[in-house]
Amino acid sequence: MASDTALIGVGVMGEAVLTSLLTVVDPAQVRISDGRPEHGRERAAAHGVRWVEQNVEAVACADVVIVAVKPKDVAAVLAEIDPVLGPEVLVVSIAAGIPTAFIESRLEAPVPVVRVMPNTPATIGQGVSVMSPGSHTTDSHLDQVAQLLSGTGTVLRVPESDQDAVTAISGSGPAYVFYLIDALAEAGVLGGLSRATALELATRTVAGAGAMAAASGEHPVVLREQVSSPAGTTVAGVRALDQHGVRAGVVAAVEAARARSVELGRSLEE
Ligand SMILES: NC(=O)c1ccc[n+]([C@@H]2O[C@H](COP(=O)([O-])OP(=O)(O)OC[C@H]3O[C@@H](n4cnc5c(N)ncnc54)[C@H](OP(=O)(O)O)[C@@H]3O)[C@@H](O)[C@H]2O)c1
Repeated sequence: MASDTALIGVGVMGEAVLTSLLTVVDPAQVRISDGRPEHGRERAAAHGVRWVEQNVEAVACADVVIVAVKPKDVAAVLAEIDPVLGPEVLVVSIAAGIPTAFIESRLEAPVPVVRVMPNTPATIGQGVSVMSPGSHTTDSHLDQVAQLLSGTGTVLRVPESDQDAVTAISGSGPAYVFYLIDALAEAGVLGGLSRATALELATRTVAGAGAMAAASGEHPVVLREQVSSPAGTTVAGVRALDQHGVRAGVVAAVEAARARSVELGRSLEE
């Protein structure tokens, strides 16, 4: 795929995106910049791409510019690169909660912008990246971004109005699952298992159940019923989950994350 690509910000998520890019773009066509020169130089050497000191140097002549800095740093980066962006450039932002309209309002030219919400399993190629188009973005721009991000895992498209809900489910979701793994492991220790065994059982069970749910195509209720024999151990455990309001707790967690995402988006308008 021929795309001269600039990546600004090579942190946890920027590096996952970089790894994905390099499955479809020649490393010679990729330039990266970062707030920490030593770190950026080291990551550039590790991936065989070009390190540049200045963001403007990264984006000059780029066909695709990927902004992977923290949300609070996005406005400053856009102000810096706007004067040197080409008229045909495609801007991709992975910053949580930053609307495409915010990015468009800070760029002089009416360039296509794609907002993406990735998640941390992208670092091992098993994430979900959810894209939304800006007002100058076509389906072919989305196809291009989907190809660039294909190495991060599954790539989906939603209207931008769904991004707060997406953030609350797949963006924040890995943290809920890590929380569940920790709780399962702790319960195993309470049941007399060594910490190492309990953690391995909890981690492998969550990974296996997630992979099975994804591969089988069955509804999770069907899968749950398959392991719940009448008057058995699992149905007793599931009843305890219900008695302790775990389902309501999960819904409340997602709602809290979605409300926070809406609030962060609004704070940009002030
Ligand atoms: N991590 C997640 O789970 C996750 C999930 C979904 C979306 N995201 C989004 O992904 C983006 C990156 O997150 P992250 O977790 O990868 O953050 P991170 O690890 O902190 O990486 C951000 C990188 O950008 C650099 N940077 C900051 N200001 C810069 C500037 N003006 N020019 C060039 N580089 C600059 C930072 O350098 P300094 O350290 O020097 O500032 C840092 O190396 C965020 O917007 C976040 O909302 C993250």
